[in-house]
This record gives sequence, C-alpha cells and structure tokens, in this order.
Amino acid sequence: MSGKKRRGPIIAIDGPSGVGKTTVSRLVAEKLGLRYINTGSMYRAFALAASEEGVDLNDVKALEGFCARARITFDEASGNTLINGRDYSDRIRSQTAGELASVVSVKKAVREFLVSFQRRIGSSGSVVMEGRDIGTAVFPDADIKFFLDAPLEVRAGRRHIEVAEKAMASKEAVTSELEKRDRRDIERANSPLKKADDAIYIDTGELEAGDVARLILVKIGERLKVGDIRS
Ligand code: DC
Repeated sequence: MSGKKRRGPIIAIDGPSGVGKTTVSRLVAEKLGLRYINTGSMYRAFALAASEEGVDLNDVKALEGFCARARITFDEASGNTLINGRDYSDRIRSQTAGELASVVSVKKAVREFLVSFQRRIGSSGSVVMEGRDIGTAVFPDADIKFFLDAPLEVRAGRRHIEVAEKAMASKEAVTSELEKRDRRDIERANSPLKKADDAIYIDTGELEAGDVARLILVKIGERLKVGDIRS
C-alpha cells in the first residue's frame, strides 16, 4: 500500500457507533505499546472546523474548497487531530460534533481527504487504528482486522451514559440518533461501514470492554509473531 517500511503491525478495529471501539482500542494499544489513532475524531474535528468557518456541510463544492485549504496535523503525544493548528478536543465528544461528523462523512471529497491523511500517519505501522472503514478502505492490507458489533439497544445504552450532554438527552433520543447514524454509515456510497471479509467478528453485546480487549489480544497473539508487535 505504501512504500514506507512498517516498523510494526497495523491493527484495524472497525464497527458501528457506541460499540465500545474507543475503550477497547486504547486498551489494546496500551497493552502492546502501539500508537492509538481514532479516525472518528478526525471526522469530528474536520466537521467542527468547517462549520466554524461557515462552510455549508451539505455543499459539495464548498467542502471540496475547505479540503483544499485545510491544514490537518496529528499530534502523536496527545492523539488529537488539529485543523489549521486548532485543537477541537474540548468539544469533540459532544453530540453536535458527532452529528456534524456523520453529515460530512458521507461526502466523497471529505473521505478522500481524511483517508489519505490516515494512510499517511498510519502506514509506518505500530498502530491500532479504529473507525468504520479501516479494514476495508484505509488499510485493506492491515496485519489483523477486527469488527466489533452489538445490538442497537445495547449501544444506545452505552452512548447515553457517555454523551457529554447526557443530562439533556433521553435514551429514546440517543437511540434514534444512533439508528440514523447507523443508516448513514451503512448506506453511504463511499467506503460504507461493512465487515471486511477477513476481519474477526466480535459481538460485544454481553462483554465488558476489558473482556473484548483480552479476546483481541489473544487473537493478535495467535496471528502475529512477538517480533511483529514489539519492534
Ligand atoms: O466513531 P465516531 O462516533 O467518533 O465517528 C464520528 C462519525 O464519523 C460517524 O458518524 C462516522 C464517521 N466515521 C467514518 O465515516 N469513518 C471512520 N473511519 C470513522 C468515523
């Protein structure tokens, strides 16, 4: 995929909203001493930056223009994505950021822009990258791929606890928002949410994050040599 030599493996973790990818991916990266990259945060930061600049998120031409002038950087130390030097981490987990990200993420120009950035920062390896299309589009040649899934009610319950404005959002509102997001993720024309044929499927519905991480670590141990992991 890239001419760069990999120093360590690329581990892809995909799945729908609220499935627990972030907690699990962080745990796995920490345990293996690998970098952790959350691609959802990139769509969120991008959407916040564009909307702050007054870009109409439904206008393809305006989004293309923003992609052409936006300077995107990844701060390895904090794991934050900066757009034009600005760090959006204080607002990145808000429901508004999630909603805006979901809107821009169906746009081809935005996906091309962010996928190419993700390849650039991930291709040197030693990374756990989480998202929706890591195993299918960003790194189809990842060393190992996981697809986490869980029933909508379970994911909505988890998201309800997690969202920053939880005091204001009812469980019903979170469920319907998640359902809408699932539909956008699955039905979009460009790199839709889909299990890669060679991804390991894990239903996290009845598992704690720690159990899922342990399961993933076992699979990684079976598939990859120690030298591939710690190098
Ligand atoms: O994982 P998250 O909720 O932070 O993602 C925010 C939005 O970004 C979500 O609606 C789907 C989109 N996304 C995507 O399209 N592709 C990715 N690799 C990651 C996120």
